[in-house]
Amino acid sequence: MGTKSLCLLLASVLVAYYVYIPVPETIEERWKLMLIDAGFRSVAHVAEFAEWLGLVHYMEVLMMITSIEYIAPISDENVTVTDTKFNNVPVRLYVPRKQSSGLKRAVIYIHGGGWCVGSSAMEPYDLLSRWTANELNAVVISVEYRLAPMHHFPVQFEDVYAVVKFFLQTSVLARYGVDPDRVCVSGDSAGGNLAAAVAQQLLDDPEVKAKLKIQALLYPALQTLDLDLPSYKENENKPILPKSLMVRFWSEYFTTDVSLKEAMASNRHVPAESSHLFRFVNWSNLLPEKFKKDHVYASPIYGSSKLGKKYPGFLDPRAAPLLADDTKLFGLPVTYVLTCQHDVLRDDGIMYVSRLRKVGIEVIHDHIEDAIHGALMFITSPTDLALGHRVANKYIEWLNMNL
Ligand SMILES: *[C@@H]1O[C@H](CO)[C@@H](O)[C@H](O)[C@H]1NC(C)=O
Ligand SMILES: *[C@@H]1O[C@H](CO)[C@@H](O)[C@H](O)[C@H]1NC(C)=O
Repeated sequence: MGTKSLCLLLASVLVAYYVYIPVPETIEERWKLMLIDAGFRSVAHVAEFAEWLGLVHYMEVLMMITSIEYIAPISDENVTVTDTKFNNVPVRLYVPRKQSSGLKRAVIYIHGGGWCVGSSAMEPYDLLSRWTANELNAVVISVEYRLAPMHHFPVQFEDVYAVVKFFLQTSVLARYGVDPDRVCVSGDSAGGNLAAAVAQQLLDDPEVKAKLKIQALLYPALQTLDLDLPSYKENENKPILPKSLMVRFWSEYFTTDVSLKEAMASNRHVPAESSHLFRFVNWSNLLPEKFKKDHVYASPIYGSSKLGKKYPGFLDPRAAPLLADDTKLFGLPVTYVLTCQHDVLRDDGIMYVSRLRKVGIEVIHDHIEDAIHGALMFITSPTDLALGHRVANKYIEWLNMNL
């Protein structure tokens, strides 16, 4: 064998080694998913390296994926699409063209991306909003909230809250021909986190008269306390959202100070003074047997009280909606929760289902056995997956029947 072919063979083996990650057998299009994931991992490696060299912040490199997928607001034969502002916060607005006799429904959508990346203008989010507007003949408002590391908690929450509050005013609903009894707030991943937080906070706001009919939480992040749940353990290195990246997203939501990230990575970030909060995320009570498997519940290990004082955000229910007391959950709207089996955030969603059902909230839980985190992002060529289309259809169909 010549030197050239030997080099080629070696290179192929290295590439295969890099691309290959153990994707569960039950997941369809495994190799395509591995390739997509390898793409994401390459960007993450470049980001790590560039940050290590002191050139840029890690998230600025990750933001490239968002920028590549940016598309302008283009109206089509069914939907008028415009970029505008609600309460000074940018939003992308989708208004159906179809004439209808009665009032319309509305969906306020909050995109994912770990509070650090993503945009309502990314092609998959733009497409999802179009489909929703078209299928439901609904007004869709996709919120362009500010991101970390430029802006930390509570900016993301406050931007989304400002938009929802603006839209729920009687005069604004009337301007868009929207039925005040048929408004939904919806989001995926970090967007599901913001949707859940907004729905909770609205209950205590005397200035808001209209009530949400539905909250739809798609593989949401809901708690900061225990980053060693069974789902974190089982899916530490699964595609799209490894545990290390989720830890980075969580810590970056509050601060760029690496001490919080390091404490979170070893799950020793919660100060002993906050020990009472652990009952809200106690998976040994809140997970059905099927998800507990043979995991053993260990009591929390507490961290220094300094972190909690410096960054109180990570103990705030506006950042971690699972930390809200039961009394704060009464009155929440009908809740749709979608969870994915192969996702570090799976148990966040499932524990919220348990907590809401315990206080009598109507919850519809769709658990997708063969899904990975971020499935809804994979609906546009060349990174589309049958799974992405299936999950999008499931969610939109449910919304169409129930909103
Ligand atoms: C407009 O709506 C029709 C009917 O739902 C659909 O067949 C068509 O593909 C839509 N057009 C676009 C650009 O989405
Ligand atoms: C969690 O629940 C288990 C029992 O299901 C209990 O033994 C343990 O003390 C609880 N831990 C916390 C921190 O609430």
